[in-house]
Amino acid sequence: MQILMTGASGLVGTATRHQLLPNHEVRRLVRSTSSNRAVEDVVWDPQSGNMDRQCLEQADVVVHLAGENLGRRWNSALKQQIRDSRILGTQLLCETIAKCESPPRVLIAASAIGYYGHRGDEELIESSSPGSGFLAELVRDWEAATEPAKAGGTRVVNLRIGVVLSKDGGALKSMLLPFKLGLGGIVGNGRQFWSWIELSDLARVIEFAIQTESLSGPVNAVAPNPPTNREFTKALGRTLHRPTVFPMPAFAAKLVLGEMAQELLLASARVIPAKLTEHDFEYQHADLDEALRHALM
Ligand SMILES: NC(=O)c1ccc[n+]([C@@H]2O[C@H](COP(=O)([O-])OP(=O)(O)OC[C@H]3O[C@@H](n4cnc5c(N)ncnc54)[C@H](OP(=O)(O)O)[C@@H]3O)[C@@H](O)[C@H]2O)c1
Repeated sequence: MQILMTGASGLVGTATRHQLLPNHEVRRLVRSTSSNRAVEDVVWDPQSGNMDRQCLEQADVVVHLAGENLGRRWNSALKQQIRDSRILGTQLLCETIAKCESPPRVLIAASAIGYYGHRGDEELIESSSPGSGFLAELVRDWEAATEPAKAGGTRVVNLRIGVVLSKDGGALKSMLLPFKLGLGGIVGNGRQFWSWIELSDLARVIEFAIQTESLSGPVNAVAPNPPTNREFTKALGRTLHRPTVFPMPAFAAKLVLGEMAQELLLASARVIPAKLTEHDFEYQHADLDEALRHALM
């Protein structure tokens, strides 16, 4: 298959390319401003709405992972960029797919468990209602932006991705230094659920979603048994052989990280991968302690 991938230079994109490359041709669709651009890449400009339809006519599958990184203190300009990079990019891609004479058969579009907002210990499956807040509203609109591709007959999978575990990026990477120094601990009261997935398992979920014709719509891309932040903290301490006795109170997290702390660290989302389980997806790293050991290898 010929696969076209946006966000291919990012954390998830790099791992997914490696997963797909042995069996498929993968072309990267990169922004003209990207520092990671190579001569063989196809260029698009989600901000100004420029995109070559030809690369979509040639693709069997599109894997769409592009989006401004969330891992910095948010201000209003960054929030706008986080939103625009996802909504405008997805609209451009999906409206162009809808105009194709021979559209790609499948679109795997990144989404996020931020869809569910802050939900305590409620078990959340794909049919659960959306939450409220900046991320929940953004994710709802992000998924809605894939509609033109669906209407044009492309099978669309909106992957609601959980906290991706990798030493190379994302939340785990930023937690490593304080935890290694023995300064790690729970965030807030530690009772919030953190739904995670190990990076190589996520790349395998993407390949599985490409291959599984009966999979469409929202799909929770998380490991089966989400822990609380307290359980996650203890597991990370065990993996690194470090104590985890320095809690970060909610007010301190909000002081240092602002709204981002509320939406990403203190929010509770107990997300269950109902569709992946129903479709017999086999995780390689479903146990948190083992997944952390693997991610930190
Ligand atoms: N990592 C996680 O824990 C996690 C959790 C839930 C959901 N997700 C979602 O999964 C997707 C991939 O995540 P990731 O961790 O791989 O992200 P990442 O490492 O930050 O990479 C994202 C890629 O998007 C492109 N990009 C960056 N800024 C952009 C902008 N302003 N406009 C358009 N494109 C931009 C870049 O590709 P080019 O430079 O090649 O254009 C970049 O390599 C994202 O949509 C993210 O929201 C990730």
